Amino acid sequence: MKEAPALLEVQGVTKAYDAPSGPLEVLKGVDLRLEPGDTVAVVGPSGCGKSTLLNLIGALEPPTSGVIAFEGRNLQNLNSAELARFRNRRIGFVFQFHHLLPQCSVLENVLVPTLVNKDAIAPRDRARKLLDRVGLSDREDYRPGRLSGGERQRAAVVRALINEPRLLLADEPTGSLNEESAGQLVRLLLELNHEEQMALLVVTHSMAVAKHMGRVLELRNGVLAPKETRA
Ligand SMILES: Nc1ncnc2c1ncn2[C@@H]1O[C@H](COP(=O)(O)OP(=O)(O)OP(=O)(O)O)[C@@H](O)[C@H]1O
Ligand SMILES: [Mg+2]
Repeated sequence: MKEAPALLEVQGVTKAYDAPSGPLEVLKGVDLRLEPGDTVAVVGPSGCGKSTLLNLIGALEPPTSGVIAFEGRNLQNLNSAELARFRNRRIGFVFQFHHLLPQCSVLENVLVPTLVNKDAIAPRDRARKLLDRVGLSDREDYRPGRLSGGERQRAAVVRALINEPRLLLADEPTGSLNEESAGQLVRLLLELNHEEQMALLVVTHSMAVAKHMGRVLELRNGVLAPKETRA
């Protein structure tokens, strides 16, 4: 019997950017395999390539070499319509900088990804339930400009969750949250991981967040390896 493909398979991925002094090799051969429902934290020093790696997995830019396959399909073989569908339906992306639309309310922002998803079932109900779970029920009519940094971050997380992604890519989702809000957000992500088998790939500087994930990996010198923990 043929083995079922992984949810995500990253093999030998490299990424180089052009720099004045020659190519800057940020990723030098990253391997990563995720099954449905896996939870992984990625840690590593600033500038080591964590956001770059999420951008590649989220198909926002192509790798220089190597393969990224999602549910058995090499992302580089998808055309632009298929890629758009993959980004909209299969993954949720929480950006390091939230990218909310300033002219739209919180509720409208959260519903944006459902506008092109004709399969979304009762998106408003889901939006309101999720906003409630992150403590933003009474902010749904606010525009982002009137929200605190942490409230914007939580709204961006809800937007990423709205289409029931199979994999949530979250870049520092608790970066502007205090301990209590960060704990609440991590609990929500873990509950959805449990309820919907959504896998989590979370970039974080916080060991308090990382320790809740099943695996903690460190990106260093362009490769991903299990983080050594001191006894
Ligand atoms: N589009 C680009 N063009 C050129 N260099 C880039 C580009 N994007 C990122 N870099 C460089 O690649 C390196 C990795 O950047 P990246 O944003 O992935 O780091 P990071 O690990 O997410 O850091 P942080 O923890 O500060 O968010 C940095 O040195 C950055 O300057
Ligand atoms: Mg980053």
